Amino acid sequence: MEPLLEDTRPSVFLPQHVTLLLTALGVYLMSTWIYNLYFHPLAGFPGSKIAAASGLYEFYYDVVKKGQYLYKIEEMHRQYGPIVRINPYEIVINDPSYYNEVYVTSNTRRTSLWPAYRSGVGFDDCHLLTEDHHLHRRRRKPLEPFFSRIGIIRMEETIISEAKSLNNRLEGLKGSSSVICLDHVFTAFAADVIAEVCYGSPSKMMTKDEFGADCAIHPDTAAGSMMTQRVEQAQRESAETRVREKPTLFRHIMTSDMPASEQSVERLTNEAMAIFGGATGTTPHALALISYYILSNQEIRERLGEELAPLMSDYPDNPPKSTDLEKLPYLQAIIKEGLRLSYGVMRRLPRRSPDVALQYKQWTIPKGTPVGMGAYSLHTNSDVYPEPFDFIPERWLGAYDPRMNESWVPFSRGSRKCLGSKYEPIHPLYFAHGLVWCQSTNKKWQSSNG
Ligand code: HEM
Ligand SMILES: *[C@@H]1O[C@H](CO)[C@@H](O)[C@H](O)[C@H]1NC(C)=O
Repeated sequence: MEPLLEDTRPSVFLPQHVTLLLTALGVYLMSTWIYNLYFHPLAGFPGSKIAAASGLYEFYYDVVKKGQYLYKIEEMHRQYGPIVRINPYEIVINDPSYYNEVYVTSNTRRTSLWPAYRSGVGFDDCHLLTEDHHLHRRRRKPLEPFFSRIGIIRMEETIISEAKSLNNRLEGLKGSSSVICLDHVFTAFAADVIAEVCYGSPSKMMTKDEFGADCAIHPDTAAGSMMTQRVEQAQRESAETRVREKPTLFRHIMTSDMPASEQSVERLTNEAMAIFGGATGTTPHALALISYYILSNQEIRERLGEELAPLMSDYPDNPPKSTDLEKLPYLQAIIKEGLRLSYGVMRRLPRRSPDVALQYKQWTIPKGTPVGMGAYSLHTNSDVYPEPFDFIPERWLGAYDPRMNESWVPFSRGSRKCLGSKYEPIHPLYFAHGLVWCQSTNKKWQSSNG
């Protein structure tokens, strides 16, 4: 009798309960899988059933296998065609002619984000991660004037002065047989440039050991709290007249007519971190990739050296201007090719159309569905770019296939296009100055340099 009494005590967790729970879970999972496969609004879209049934497939490739889903999606396109359902909720399209339909400007229609794709980044209320179309516009608009006018001039001056520090540091390391990581070098270069642009003093990353490789921009790091201090400083300064004398991006934000609710130090710090992260996560990678190809390919090195030589004869006393560099076709081709192979953001950037359905060929994509297109797929399409994984700047010279422009999307497009792409006209300057040291091994270069 006694054991029976004990067994019936309600606090004891019995094997029957476990079985019951597992059964309930099983029924729940089965029914969601069945719903996703047969009754979901996206049920009729092409793609693998296992991917459409649950998020587990993507989880496996992206989390367990560390970011491999991108390549799996490529395979799906080969198997199922240009439009595929890659998880229960999301559509990915691989067709350059449709890019401008997904990434539209704000006067075409509203575009919202899919929060699940971006949660956990750490600075949610910056404009980059803002889900709602109108709030995104309200947050982005005040930044725009800075990027188009004063910002460009300031960026140009800053690049030239920071490039000198870059070259000095690299010259100093010559013959020391220390191994340097170009990603770190150029991230430090970009961070020093953008710090000057954002708050008017360099971050001096270039003088740090390992080029400050261990600095991470996140609300919880030292770099994050430094950013908060800079924002507070800009807020104090915005009352003073020298704001107009020495404009910085942060001071510009403080004096722009943003509603007070958008001006909290916390939100602006997140904005600052997103801009900082945007500038240091992309340009340096392109620059490091280009350096690699220049250093490992004598022909490219010589051809670029020849093209740059006339402008560099009096370097560094009289550095070339971006308006001169802009006219160099080979340098431009190198930049385009570098941005093609460094992708910008490799992965799909899902956008939602909250008001109207999208029509792709015979498929009607219900409104609100996240639809993405990845730069990786578009930039490595061998129909458009033969030998897609080779660095061939020449493909951008002379008359070329107009689909190459259509497929080239390192900055994305539409209302949420990279704000830094406004700096595109000064890319030649940025890249040429970053690459000066690459050229110092070039005979032609040295002879014209005296
Ligand atoms: C080669 C250089 C760069 C590339 C390839 C690049 C690429 C991109 C891409 C693909 C996006 C869209 C991201 C998304 O939809 O999630 C983006 C957004 C953005 N980028 Fe860049 N970027 C570059 C440089 C810069 C620089 C130098 C800055 C700032 C000074 C910057 C600031 C931003 C900002 C603020 C956004 C958010 C725009 C918005 O959501 O409205 N980027 N960038
Ligand atoms: C590609 O775009 C560039 C500038 O964005 C333009 O100068 C060029 O003519 C275009 N080329 C083709 C083939 O469409």
